[in-house]
Amino acid sequence: MDSVGPLGLQQGDGAPGCPQEALPCPSNSSELVQECLRQFKVTGAQLRQIQASFLDSMEQALSGQANPAPTVRMLPTYVGSVPHGTEQGDFVVLELGAIGASLRVLWVTLMGTEGHRMEPQSREFVIPQEVMVGPGQQLFDFAARCLSEFLDALPVGNQCLQLGFSFSFPCHQTGLDKSTLISWTKGFRCSGVEGQDVVQLLRDAIQRQGAYSIDVVAVVNDTVGTMMGCEPGAGPCEVGLVVDTGTNACYMEEARHVALLDEDRGRVCISIEWGSFSDDGALGPVLTTFDHILDHESLNPGAQRFEKMIGGLYLGELVRLVLAHLAQRGVLFGGCTSPALLSRGGILLEHVAEMEDPSAGAARVHTILQDLGLRPRASDTELVRHVCAAVCTRAAQLCAAALAAVLSRLQRSREQETLQIAVATGGRVFERHPRFLSILQETVMLLAPTCDVSFIPSVDGGGRGVAMVTAVAARLAAHRRLLEETLAPFRVTCEQLAAVQAQMREAMARGLRGEASSLRMLPTYVRATPDGSERGDFLALDLGGTNFRVLLVRVATGGVQISSQIYSIPECVAQGSGQQLFDHIVDCIVDFQQKQGLSGQSLPLGFTFSFPCRQLGLDQGILLTWTKGFNASDCEGQDVVCLLREAIRRRQATELNVVAIVNDTVGTMMSCGYEDPRCEVGLIVGTGTNACYMEELRNVASVAGDSGHMCINMEWGAFGDDGSLGMLSTHFDASVDQASINPGKQRFEKMISGMYLGEIVRHVLLHLTRLGVLFRGQLTQRLQTRDIFKTKFLSEIESDSLALRQVRAILEALGLPLTSDDALMVLEVCQAVSQRAAQLCGAGVAAVVEKIRENRGLEELTVSVGVDGTLYKMHPHFSSLVAATVRELAPRCAVTFLQSEDGSGKGAALVTAVACRLAQMTHV
Ligand code: BG6
Ligand code: GLC
Ligand code: GLC
Repeated sequence: MDSVGPLGLQQGDGAPGCPQEALPCPSNSSELVQECLRQFKVTGAQLRQIQASFLDSMEQALSGQANPAPTVRMLPTYVGSVPHGTEQGDFVVLELGAIGASLRVLWVTLMGTEGHRMEPQSREFVIPQEVMVGPGQQLFDFAARCLSEFLDALPVGNQCLQLGFSFSFPCHQTGLDKSTLISWTKGFRCSGVEGQDVVQLLRDAIQRQGAYSIDVVAVVNDTVGTMMGCEPGAGPCEVGLVVDTGTNACYMEEARHVALLDEDRGRVCISIEWGSFSDDGALGPVLTTFDHILDHESLNPGAQRFEKMIGGLYLGELVRLVLAHLAQRGVLFGGCTSPALLSRGGILLEHVAEMEDPSAGAARVHTILQDLGLRPRASDTELVRHVCAAVCTRAAQLCAAALAAVLSRLQRSREQETLQIAVATGGRVFERHPRFLSILQETVMLLAPTCDVSFIPSVDGGGRGVAMVTAVAARLAAHRRLLEETLAPFRVTCEQLAAVQAQMREAMARGLRGEASSLRMLPTYVRATPDGSERGDFLALDLGGTNFRVLLVRVATGGVQISSQIYSIPECVAQGSGQQLFDHIVDCIVDFQQKQGLSGQSLPLGFTFSFPCRQLGLDQGILLTWTKGFNASDCEGQDVVCLLREAIRRRQATELNVVAIVNDTVGTMMSCGYEDPRCEVGLIVGTGTNACYMEELRNVASVAGDSGHMCINMEWGAFGDDGSLGMLSTHFDASVDQASINPGKQRFEKMISGMYLGEIVRHVLLHLTRLGVLFRGQLTQRLQTRDIFKTKFLSEIESDSLALRQVRAILEALGLPLTSDDALMVLEVCQAVSQRAAQLCGAGVAAVVEKIRENRGLEELTVSVGVDGTLYKMHPHFSSLVAATVRELAPRCAVTFLQSEDGSGKGAALVTAVACRLAQMTHV
């Protein structure tokens, strides 16, 4: 296609060659030259303006501004610290995109001691043009082939190799080994790669190749490799600058300033992707007509406008466009052109660098131009040199303006007035172009006078830095494997859950028949859920959950009204003498009565007592064993109602009429049953866990009668105390059990309820710390302290709305200082432990509802479960996991979960109300 550029530049056929007659130099030739060169001049004021608008763009991107999108991308990498120098091992590095149409493979050995270096072995492969713009798979297959070819020449055997992938294009990184290509730059345009994870594409290709076992551990941008591989000098090396085919820089930013990151501590390396700066036109005033042509003819018009003024791929091209323009105007080469001069890529960075080099001499410039098919006249060489110098000077100055903006940003974010810093430089423009670095340095000094910058050339093109990142990534991957191994026993399969459900069914049946079973299946003498006709004022006690409460419950036509007060039960009372405990309870009741103006009145009292009791009637309950941290002496084997009545008698001052003793599961079922008559199951997942449900009386061996129902308190917390849960119990469960006040007891409860989950988590954290996976392997006194981890922390840590930084704050408040990697792992531990708990609980509920369905000979059962307990209510995912498990394991039951709003005290009052109603009826 013939086209005429904005300068009247002839492109396409017919153009190369000479005019019919050799042109004399036009009279205004010096003007024409000056006009061209002037376009490339950038004034100090313009540079300052660019620096300022660059800084703006950086800060907008850091703050997450979306509209209008800032033109620099500021992409967080997963590199959080500059290397310590202690990294060691052998690594393979594959570089794609840094050095134009080449791909490089390196073998890097890190010695583990600073200052000790071993030269890497490397090989460069030229990527054929058709591969650069062909299908993505072809490019990655090519890379895998080069890798194999390189390794074939090394004595690597069949060891598994760790590879660092230096992929120098704008990417969204989501992990050290996960990176999605945003868009190709620099002459690459392979199909099917944008939007894909390039690490996966490489892994797939290596697998297709099948020659070596290679683990792609990390992916990094070339700027990051350059920075990381730099030997620290006077100051820390916290900026990486690359000017090769393309250009870009990275630097260490304070994590708290990066909106995209969920992190408020430490630093993170940001790849600026500055090549796209001013794609919105901010560079307008300094753009030349040649820049416009170059952009227009490139593979990515409108994109990477800044890079197209600086990167090595474009410097030759800009020079070519200027020379062609001048030749066509007759100012150069007697008006003659050549195919090289008129075709894209005809003049390379190498040509420009050499022609501009003052030591090269006119003869050398002459030869180069001749090689390009031109016939230079004596005066042409000097002019060509000027053009090269103008293009490159501008490139170095623009690069300096951007770098000065980065330095200002560093000063600002670190709140330092002066900054001493080292910038690692890499890329062929620095290596081949004699003056680029010195112009850059000079200009930076001018634009950022308060910064003391040293420029350190990168060794082996950043390969060592990539190896460093790879070493860190490999360590993290090993940690992840250990974490997975540790958590594997907590991941229960569907089959295992079905087995738990089946065992539970078995144990229920045996318990009901009065046979040996870990489930006691205690009759409660509650025969019906409320029918709504109950009336009156009642007192209620609620003992055994997180809080001890005394309540006044008014059941009237308009509904139920509750006033209540929480009293504390100090641990010394819960674990002291029985007499002390019950005296304390009565003191609280008396206090409550006084406050409510009820002194002297003898209201019927319902007692929610959330421990296993063998009941012989509604108002008789013999405590079988204490659970959940209670251990008051001389209570086990005693009737709790008697103990309470004796304490009342000792206190003399009050008259109380204890009518019913109720387990919290029963209280919860009754309380929810008042609203929904389908509520025939009560479930508690709080400090402890347990369930009750309405069983057919004929199935209850220990109670006479064959018709009607009775609520059974399963005491499922003890499920598995006969060893039947052995398969699922991890050694962390065993440790928690052993350290508890009731070893060997309540094994199901200890895998599910709030009193124990935190302890399980703590034991897992201890184990991971001993493995060196967490807290840098340092065991703190805090972590070794029992019960520091409360259930509420689990709920908080797993809350979706909570950022990782808050997770860290929670743990730090516990005296556990950790990194963000640690925080993520702690979160995963919590998730694994609570997920298993919810699933086991779901398996239990599934067993219960299936039993009810079968009891009634129903195809389908619709039933509600009344639920209470802090873990169930406060944990962000517990309830939905329980429901999902029940759906899976009991597909023929439609189960609705109702959260009890009023606690089980209301239920106890309702049980009391029913009892009073029945008593009155018998009196009549
Ligand atoms: C309360 C009930 O709401 O939940 C108590 O009123 C019950 O009876 C308790 O024991 C269970 O939850 P937690 O988390 O307090 O043990
Ligand atoms: C291009 C790439 C960038 C890279 C730079 C230098 O700008 O987009 O990722 O760092 O070239 O190679
Ligand atoms: C414990 C008690 C049980 C109670 C449960 C929930 O398992 O033994 O009676 O229902 O905790 O509080």
